[in-house]
Amino acid sequence: MTAPPPDAALDALKSRIAAAQLGAAAEELGTVIAIADGLARLSGLPGAELNEVLTFEGGARGFVLALEEDQVQAALLDTAEGIAAGCTVKRTGEVLSVPVGKALLGRVLDPLGRPLDELPPPETGERLPAERPAPTIIERDFVSEPLETGLLVIDALFAIGRGQRELIIGERQTGKTSIAVDAILNQAGGEVICIYVAIGQRTSSVARAIETLRCRDAMSRSIVVVADPAGEPGLRWLAPFAATSMAEWFRDRGNHVLIVYDDLTKHAATHRELALLSRQPPGREAYPGDIFYLHARLLERSGKLGAARGSGSITALPIAEIDAGNLSAYIPTNLISISDGQIVTSAALFAANQRPAVDVGLSVSRVGGKAQAGAMKAVAGRLRLDYAQYLEMKMFSRFGGFGDAATAARLVRGERIAALLAQDRFQPLSLLTQIALLAALDAGLLDKVEPDRIPVLKQALTAPLAADPRLDALRSDTARLPDELRSALADIVRATLGLT
Ligand SMILES: Nc1ncnc2c1ncn2[C@@H]1O[C@H](COP(=O)(O)OP(=O)(O)OP(=O)(O)O)[C@@H](O)[C@H]1O
Ligand SMILES: [Mg+2]
Repeated sequence: MTAPPPDAALDALKSRIAAAQLGAAAEELGTVIAIADGLARLSGLPGAELNEVLTFEGGARGFVLALEEDQVQAALLDTAEGIAAGCTVKRTGEVLSVPVGKALLGRVLDPLGRPLDELPPPETGERLPAERPAPTIIERDFVSEPLETGLLVIDALFAIGRGQRELIIGERQTGKTSIAVDAILNQAGGEVICIYVAIGQRTSSVARAIETLRCRDAMSRSIVVVADPAGEPGLRWLAPFAATSMAEWFRDRGNHVLIVYDDLTKHAATHRELALLSRQPPGREAYPGDIFYLHARLLERSGKLGAARGSGSITALPIAEIDAGNLSAYIPTNLISISDGQIVTSAALFAANQRPAVDVGLSVSRVGGKAQAGAMKAVAGRLRLDYAQYLEMKMFSRFGGFGDAATAARLVRGERIAALLAQDRFQPLSLLTQIALLAALDAGLLDKVEPDRIPVLKQALTAPLAADPRLDALRSDTARLPDELRSALADIVRATLGLT
């Protein structure tokens, strides 16, 4: 018998070492003391670590949520069926992790990457921990490229940059989800990868969002992560963290990702539910003391990476719900203070049919202006002020009007601005169309157009703008809007309106 070549023997030995289960921790056992509401109180497991995965007798899994002196609190990730007091529970020695990779694209998954779309589990060999540190300051770069949403009110007034965290906040049923889904739809055919995370949302609303993405060809570059309201609270708690790890895999390969957390108010409620059940001391509004840290460490993971880390980015659109317009409640103020601006939706505007119902006075984008195209800046500079003045005058003109020509002209202009800012769902406008519309507004071309003709004009402009060779310069470089381009845009709008 000949001895195997030394290299092969070494390789065989190495692979046996790699496959060997090492460490006493893997066999550490504990016992369930009590189990209810998706949370288990355990004894034993002295070596357990935070976020470590545990397996219960019968195969269900959970993760360590809180460590106490002689007990461990674990949140379940599977149904509690078959688990009762006295059952054994085993440490795995692994932190909570999720599958990541290209295979996730186009899929509807739960926070652990298990399929919810009746397809086989995504085939990916890689996993990442659900909780990962945010990039350091040195690794980051400035937000400098725009993330276009296709919604004129946002792109013109509250531009969002890649790597920014822009909160969408408003009362219930004011079109918050619609704004985020429209922003995802606008990335179709582009390079941005989108992740929509539904946390405790109504099944019908999630189904509608998925259907919309499918119908409009946005699904192939998107991932939908769903933690439904009836499921385990542990899964809802995990959802935004798990989805961010999925986003980071793409970001670390130089891609740009847009992630929508719908919504963090529900996530905060889940965190409170788990904290109260595990008897952590309640603080303000019964939230535990670490609620601020929870969302800060989540949103800090978004941002733009520097060239040394591949220049990828994660843009976050967290959504928050408020009651009765109260922006100064605990969770809303927390979220406002850890994001780079907010889009505020208003129930009054929504009821008055101004949709998207963005409150221009309360909304702000703190970093996106630096990423906004120069040509857009050139035409949108006065928009916000003109619109604010119009809103104020409109209120006063109800009491009898002013009569002078300047005020009348402002009111006429304001009505056109309102019509430009209104936009139906699924009708994204290209940057070029937005610039053309605003240039026409600036030139006074729209003052004679009835506001109800403006929606038609928006759609009618697409073809002539795309066909005009004079705009080639603008297509390749949106940093400037020289006068000849401005007048070319005005010409095209005039021709489309039949005003030649
Ligand atoms: N721009 C729009 N044009 C027309 N309809 C719209 C527009 N935006 C939203 N809607 C409609 O308003 C309704 C509520 O929208 P959406 O679900 O986005 O609100 P929400 O604030 O996310 O609600 P919830 O608080 O329930 O999550 C939907 O039926 C949607 O179709
Ligand atoms: Mg919603």
